[in-house]
Amino acid sequence: MAMDRNLALELVRATEAAALAATRLMGRGDEHAADQAAVDAMRAALNRIEMDAIVVIGEGERDEAPMLFIGEKVGTGNGPKIEIALDPLEGTTICATGGANALAVIAAAEEKGFLHAPDTYMDKIAVGPAAQGVIDIDLSPTENLKAIAQAMSVPVEDLTVVILDRPRHEKLIEEVRKAGARIKLIQDGDVSAAIATCSRDNQVDVLLGIGGAPEGVIAAAALRCVGGEIQGRLKPRHQGEIDRARAMGIQDIDAKLNMSDLATGDVMFAATGVTGGDFLKGVRFRAQGALTQSVVMRSQTGTLRYIDAEHNFRRKRLQDL
Ligand code: FBP
Repeated sequence: MAMDRNLALELVRATEAAALAATRLMGRGDEHAADQAAVDAMRAALNRIEMDAIVVIGEGERDEAPMLFIGEKVGTGNGPKIEIALDPLEGTTICATGGANALAVIAAAEEKGFLHAPDTYMDKIAVGPAAQGVIDIDLSPTENLKAIAQAMSVPVEDLTVVILDRPRHEKLIEEVRKAGARIKLIQDGDVSAAIATCSRDNQVDVLLGIGGAPEGVIAAAALRCVGGEIQGRLKPRHQGEIDRARAMGIQDIDAKLNMSDLATGDVMFAATGVTGGDFLKGVRFRAQGALTQSVVMRSQTGTLRYIDAEHNFRRKRLQDL
């Protein structure tokens, strides 16, 4: 059974529920509690959706994550057979410190639609639609920036490159500075950064550097829908992660991962802002309610829907979303 287009709108209820739950714990300095709240709310909402879904990118392996683990079945068990890649709280530290760009995210694909990536790292390059088709992770950052600038008809100096602020990126940052591009260093949240390259008001143009591999797959789902591009390469830290990747079906650990390796076929994506950021507004509380902003996308049509929701807690409890 193919994925019904209404499923995308069902998924957004689950990202709204996760965002509303996590945002209550914003700034408490407790990453774990914020994540747990998001996981509980998202799981409950997902299990109300008519689908026979399996989590392929989730909170971790079954032995380390009791809920929304890789391999967990979600949904009512009826309806389309689909794969789900999710992150109930992308940016746990962001939420715990009240920073920008924490999201609740879900992507869905038909069976075998997503790379079953283990919880390791991935080198990534991501761009919006204007530079789709010109990037190549095998080229140097300088060469990529030149190609992107040319495709976007701007000088390299006008490009804004997002990079996670980590010691591992020292050389990369140096090279990008030398190439002349502007840099936005972020503390966390490279899914939001990858998607922001495709945003309407386009404040960032390129994401470069090493972040989480599961986040790479989730970003690929979004970029497929909007016509951007991401390429990646796994960067396991030790033999254990290589073994895990192999066990999950990835034979060539060093392979260049194109969009179609990361997310293929009919894909849907939904995200709700937890804390405000480049791409989505965060949750704002009102008397007896809250406002959320979400985005829903489908690869089949390329339609992007921004959903501003007003939740009325007098009539609908959070756990019933
Ligand atoms: P969490 O939500 O799991 O905390 O991930 C946040 C994040 O910043 C991701 O956006 C990014 O891909 C990854 O962590 C980077 O990992 P690290 O913090 O280990 O450099």
